[in-house]
Amino acid sequence: MTTALAMHRYSLMDDAECEARILDAKARLGRRLVILGHHYQRDEVFRHADFSGDSLKLSRQAAGSEAEYIVFCGVHFMAEVADILSRPEQVSILPDMAAGCSMADMASLPAVEKAWRELASVLDPDEHVTPVTYINSAADLKAFCGRHGGIVCTSSNAQKVLEWSFGQREKVLFFPDQHLGRNTGHRMGIPLDEMVVWDFEQPMGGLTPEQIRKARMILWKGFCSVHQMFQPEHIERFKARFPEAKIISHPESPFEVCEKSDYVGSTEYIIKTVAESAPGTRWLVGTELNLVNRLNDQYKHEDKQVHFMSPTVCMCSTMFRIDPQHLAWTLENLADGNVVNRIQVPAEDARLARLALERMLDVSP
Ligand code: 13P
Ligand code: SF4
Repeated sequence: MTTALAMHRYSLMDDAECEARILDAKARLGRRLVILGHHYQRDEVFRHADFSGDSLKLSRQAAGSEAEYIVFCGVHFMAEVADILSRPEQVSILPDMAAGCSMADMASLPAVEKAWRELASVLDPDEHVTPVTYINSAADLKAFCGRHGGIVCTSSNAQKVLEWSFGQREKVLFFPDQHLGRNTGHRMGIPLDEMVVWDFEQPMGGLTPEQIRKARMILWKGFCSVHQMFQPEHIERFKARFPEAKIISHPESPFEVCEKSDYVGSTEYIIKTVAESAPGTRWLVGTELNLVNRLNDQYKHEDKQVHFMSPTVCMCSTMFRIDPQHLAWTLENLADGNVVNRIQVPAEDARLARLALERMLDVSP
């Protein structure tokens, strides 16, 4: 162990120097290190990932990894999941602690516990409501679901998870993303008027006891600021110019956007669908910009054209915080024997969150 190298020195380095340092530190660490990279990472970071994927695929990678250090190029909740699903002696690391998720921040444990207490004034939630948290949430909310017979979902298994949840109890409290909840519920045939929105800033979520009794899904009023930008008019305008184009969207997008899309699915699904399409296909894609640009570059040679859905640039600014400077700093410290930015979930939260995550992995295709 040496004195930790200070981050501010790395902030002054250009990308080329960081690239050389990353490669050198990776070589020094060898099999002791695995780098996991989410599809929304910028190219200068993404290219160093040993494994890439959507949230579900990366959870499985973390659970199955043998490496001593799991460096997560993604956001905070992903590194928490890696810590929860890996063995106690493995270390999960997030290169920049400021890489959070604004959607995950829209639900907190006190707010969800308040909602649970308020629901209890109408019905016994532990008997009638399965709590389902999107993986984009803090570990203590996953623990809440573990404690109350609930489960975690990702954008690629939400339907399977909801089927399981309705098999347990007749209602679901879904947080934090209302759009993933609504889009999935609708696809399963749940009428829109049986999916109510829980406004966490209002007493009783702004709902009447009657609305709560009638609802099958209670959707937390959270959203992703990136996917919320996509609008049905973007699709209409594009279709007017290119009627033959195919539209594909992430289910964090608004309901009207998903309704107008030919395909809806997780980042991994989007990649697979574009990859398998016929040469010459033109795509309009409703998900984060770094992924859309990468798809366009990757499939140019097959004459596919991959367009971004919004006319304004909308990147995930927190994913973007993981830059070559932070990655070089993290890896050089590790290679020198200094663990920086370790993500460690408190033991009791980890135990309960793991329960909810394992329920998810068991029902996932
Ligand atoms: P997936 O990669 O699981 O589709 O999720 C997208 C996302 O918003 C991650 O934060
Ligand atoms: Fe969170 Fe949205 Fe960024 Fe995904 S894209 S990490 S949901 S803010």
